[in-house]
Amino acid sequence: MLEPWVQQKLSSVDAGHDWWHAVRVRNSALTIAEDEGGNRQIIETAALVHDLVDDKFFIPADAEKEIVSKLQSLFFKQNDIDHIMHIISSMSFSKELDGSSFDSLEFRIVQDADRLDAIGAIGIARTFSYGGHKGREFYNPNIPFEEVSSKRQYRNGATPTINHFYEKLLKLKEMMKTKTGRAMAEERHQFMARYLEQFFKEWG
Ligand code: NI
Repeated sequence: MLEPWVQQKLSSVDAGHDWWHAVRVRNSALTIAEDEGGNRQIIETAALVHDLVDDKFFIPADAEKEIVSKLQSLFFKQNDIDHIMHIISSMSFSKELDGSSFDSLEFRIVQDADRLDAIGAIGIARTFSYGGHKGREFYNPNIPFEEVSSKRQYRNGATPTINHFYEKLLKLKEMMKTKTGRAMAEERHQFMARYLEQFFKEWG
């Protein structure tokens, strides 16, 4: 069984990347696939395992080998395993900043689903949770928002959590790759924009 294995693997990561994140991404991805099509088994599997190769929590090369042998033990076809591994190793925002070249309908759908979970009410919760995990300030008026143009710069930032909304999260709506994903992002984007307006109103 894939699900208990993934759940166990994700038991030590922060709340924003835990099993429930994987479940939400799986559900959003399958919702997008209802309109956009694609191979549902590949979409569902890639969504469930996508954060197991995140270098914030795992050693990607080791994790990739483990996922491949897990999928082989579940009798996935080699072509499908290759496709799933391409999807999950190309998904991140930092990969896109560095210019990732892999593309497929299933890739677009899973990436959009992961990005939906980064914005809106849940995106806000995840962002502050991760900032807390890293010991970051909510906001510091003396630290300006910056354009982030490379992976290194993106990762090295110890900037306050609010800056992350401007450096990444507010841009995700325009980076959505499916029509359905983009439509789903709209409401979440608006909510996040309203949240920031209120945050700064209260900050004074
Ligand atoms: Ni994710």
